[in-house]
Amino acid sequence: MLPMKKTLTALTLAASTALFSTSLPRHASAAEPKTAELKVQKSELNSEMEDMDEAMKKLRRSIRKAEQNEASLKILAEIQAKALSSKGMIPTKTAKMPEADRAKFVTAYRKEMAAVIIDLCQMEQALLDGDNAKAQEIYKAIGEREDKDHDQFMQKDEKKK
Ligand code: HEM
Repeated sequence: MLPMKKTLTALTLAASTALFSTSLPRHASAAEPKTAELKVQKSELNSEMEDMDEAMKKLRRSIRKAEQNEASLKILAEIQAKALSSKGMIPTKTAKMPEADRAKFVTAYRKEMAAVIIDLCQMEQALLDGDNAKAQEIYKAIGEREDKDHDQFMQKDEKKK
């Protein structure tokens, strides 16, 4: 009897701990609306872009060295996946534009995202050929495209600099 009772008590405790811990963040975020608001303001696209940015910084160092090409190709695959997912999203700025301009804007965004994916695939081919000089050239071109596209597709207040 006693071991059974102990098991039951343990189960009840585990269940209430689980309940408590799942409900806790909801209470905590309700008590801190300012933090929650800040999180909502950052779009999913923004967070994909930030991940790409971090990975691109790693890639900048690794593509200088041919002996790191295997590692570079792994980082590159992550960036390609993030770029593909970003291509299917809608820039935040779209909602603030006149409705009549939105479709054209989203098409232009999608074409540029497709272009950056092509650049990333060409970089992959260069790395697979062991042509690190070419991979670095393409890296530079991606940076230039990124700057131009951020000017066109990002809201002014989203930009860090
Ligand atoms: C590898 C290339 C790219 C990198 C590393 C990159 C990086 C970033 C970063 C770090 C942000 C966050 C804001 C900031 O820090 O200023 C951002 C936002 C953004 N980027 Fe990129 N970006 C890239 C390419 C592109 C391209 C090609 C486009 C357009 C076709 C684009 C459109 C945007 C937009 C629209 C936002 C704002 C997100 C939103 O609308 O909610 N980015 N990007």
